[in-house]
Order: sequence, then structure tokens, then C-alpha cells
Amino acid sequence: MDRAELEKAVAAIRWAHRIDLGQGIVTPGLWDTPQMLARLRMPADLSGQSVLDVGCWDGFYSFEAERRGARRVLATDSFTWQRQSWGSKDGFDLARRVLRSRVEERQIDVLDLSPETVGVFDIVLLLGVFYHMKHPMLALERVASVTRKLLIMETVIDLLYLPGRALAFYPGAELNQDDSNWFGPTPSAVEAMLRSAGFTRVERVWPSPARLLLWRGMSVFGPKSIKRAVFHAYK
Ligand SMILES: C[S@@+](CC[C@H](N)C(=O)[O-])C[C@H]1O[C@@H](n2cnc3c(N)ncnc32)[C@H](O)[C@@H]1O
Repeated sequence: MDRAELEKAVAAIRWAHRIDLGQGIVTPGLWDTPQMLARLRMPADLSGQSVLDVGCWDGFYSFEAERRGARRVLATDSFTWQRQSWGSKDGFDLARRVLRSRVEERQIDVLDLSPETVGVFDIVLLLGVFYHMKHPMLALERVASVTRKLLIMETVIDLLYLPGRALAFYPGAELNQDDSNWFGPTPSAVEAMLRSAGFTRVERVWPSPARLLLWRGMSVFGPKSIKRAVFHAYK
């Protein structure tokens, strides 16, 4: 595909992710995915590792795992790929073709993940997906069942003025006018839920303790305490 054709193909798609397709073209994603990537602390070298990307949308993180040397990457989604949100699978398909990627794909719901359906992966990415789960413990158990070593989980967090384990519930479209959002946990709720799902050690890698303290302070005065956090959970 020459540059003009690629520009036209990119412009025809609504992108969530900013993916560098080469020839000076970066997809115009809604989210600053390179900045989010920096917060994940994804291992720089994934040589020999298998990676499962759950709810991958345009696949930015799957392609990044491949770029970092992963032996095998399986990109999965259901909701967006079935065009139930404002996006589609078109971005993933175009990026994979242009990048000449070997990332595999599977349309599957989080609740259908199991060693029998997809196998078990060294590293699992659950990025921006947890708060879309209507049955969050069940979803984490399914994800744990397909994780061999490390889960990297990014999520909305809420109720930061509360010191303990709690989940905000968003009925209807209360969070961001999006009726696919259900729960916003406190950071300690995330940690406890991951341990209950079968992970032995959980670390919060974003935000730093100082930043979380600042957010906690701000949340006492402001009505909105919704932020985002990243956790590493080890089997
Ligand atoms: C906020 S987007 C995050 C996309 C990407 N992981 C990222 O971090 O940029 C949530 C993704 O989860 C997917 N998703 C939502 N519910 C799902 C479900 N039950 N099973 C599989 N994927 C789901 C959506 O289709 C969407 O691609």
C-alpha cells in the first residue's frame, strides 16, 4: 500500500489507539496509548513469552508485545469487534496487515476464557476492561485461569476518599455516559480481588504512592474521584 492509499484507509476508520504504521503515519486514536503504555511497566524484553491481550480493540498493546519479541501473541475482543461500541475491528485488521504482524486473533468474551478455549499464557493484558465487567470476580477468575505468570491490569479506580475495599457501582450510563461501565474499585479492592481470584502477589505500579495520596486528598474535596491505576499480579 503506498502512502496515499494508507492515509485514505486510516482516515476511513474510527481509531481508539495511536499506532505507528510507518511512512510517517500514526493512527489518530482517541487515547494517548503511548503515554498509557509507559505506565504499564510491560517488560522491555518479551522474548520467548506468550501474551494474551484481552479486550484489545485496535491492538496497540498486542503489536507492542510482538515488537518486544513475544513468541506468540493472541489478541482477543468481543464487544467492539462486534460493533457494539463506537469502534470496530477494522483498525486491528488494517494495522495487522500494514505491520505485517503475526499477532493471532480470536473473538471471545472474557467470561468464555479458559485453558480449554484459548490455552494458558505467560503474560496476560487486561487493560481498560475490568470496569466493563458486570460480574467482576467471575471475570478475574476466568482471566486468572489463563495466566501462567503475570497479569498486567489497568482500570478505572474510584472512591479514593475511602481507605478500604469498596466498589462504586454505575447503573445505566452513569460513568461517562457509557452503559457498558459497571464498577470502579478502590485500589485496595483491586488488590484483594486479584488475590481472591488466585494471584499470590499484587503490586500497584501506577500511580506512585505520592500521587495516590494527592488524588486521595483531592477526592475529599471534589465530587469526582475517578482516576486510573495499573497493577501487576503474579501467579
Ligand atoms: C476501554 S476499551 C480498552 C481497549 C484496550 N484494551 C486499551 O486498553 O486501550 C475496552 C475493551 O474491552 C472490550 N470488552 C468489553 N467487554 C468485553 C467482554 N465481555 N469480553 C471481551 N471484551 C470486552 C471492548 O470491546 C473494548 O475493546
